[in-house]
Amino acid sequence: MSTAIAKATEQLQRNGYLDIEVDPTLDLVAEINKLKKEKNAIILAHYYQESEIQDIADYIGDSLGLSQMAANTDAEMIVFAGVHFMAETAKMLSPNKKVLLPDLKAGCSLADSCPAPIFKKFKEKYPDHVVVSYINCTAELKTLTDICCTSTNAVHIIESIPEDKGIIFAPDRNLGAYLKKKTGRDLVLWNGTCMVHEIFSHEKITKLMMRHPEAKFIAHPECEAVLLEKADYIGSTSGLLRYTQENDAETFIVATEAGILHQMELKSPNKTFIPAPPNNTCACNDCPHMKRNTMEKLYLSMKYELPEIHLEDWVIEKGRASIDRMLEISEKVGL
Ligand code: 13P
Ligand code: SF4
Repeated sequence: MSTAIAKATEQLQRNGYLDIEVDPTLDLVAEINKLKKEKNAIILAHYYQESEIQDIADYIGDSLGLSQMAANTDAEMIVFAGVHFMAETAKMLSPNKKVLLPDLKAGCSLADSCPAPIFKKFKEKYPDHVVVSYINCTAELKTLTDICCTSTNAVHIIESIPEDKGIIFAPDRNLGAYLKKKTGRDLVLWNGTCMVHEIFSHEKITKLMMRHPEAKFIAHPECEAVLLEKADYIGSTSGLLRYTQENDAETFIVATEAGILHQMELKSPNKTFIPAPPNNTCACNDCPHMKRNTMEKLYLSMKYELPEIHLEDWVIEKGRASIDRMLEISEKVGL
């Protein structure tokens, strides 16, 4: 091992990411593009990433699109500009590839809200139930799951399960409640939430809607039911983006993480997008986990090929089955 890599590895163990000083005059876009070619790497970015990262990514998408890309890419290295559970999913789908996550501390409050050992005990209370887990969960939770889902395919996944079968849905109670309403199925819900989608202020949004009566209010299904009831459209990030492109309205109040506004503004430059206000004094609704990734960390991660995602073989084998079933059902229904 070279001294530089040994030092980087040691630093990584302390921080979860590399914070080697990057020359501020360096053209990071050019350097990252160079590394992409040299290493036959692909950068997959979620819509919640900062705009510069979205602009340099080879593919930007929602959780379903990102999984499909991770499963089908020919690249030797997958650099995941997203959060930990997304990079783990990519590793499960492409176990022989090197999967990098620029900052290992880019976690997810929703995934953290459902620790696998506690869920295992909970599941034992419903031995005949099928377990459907939102993909925003840990690799260990996926090993306890029959079928994964994302917000794009969740309704189809629930509807693919025979009506006489009980279903446990984890970890997001808001998405779960939305699915109960949409499908009429009686799901047993885990009580987890996403810190970003829980924080929207009902009162401030109502006032905003009164000030902009012409605006469409659109929301991600991770939001609370009281907000979803008000929405003109409910959907995954890709669904919300598509709606803003296809709908004739000129103004949209958007209740999801603010990163998505970058693509909305690029795709519809003449429309106005207002981020839904949160219930705190700060005006932002950024996901602190998603926003741990920076251009500097992306560059260092590709240069040193660290931090890398490693999963035990049994986790890959068992967890992957739940993702494969999700991808099969999605393909069948044309998603
Ligand atoms: P989607 O992009 O699949 O809608 O997921 C949203 C999200 O919260 C990802 O962390
Ligand atoms: Fe997790 Fe919510 Fe952040 Fe998505 S937005 S990564 S669900 S905390």
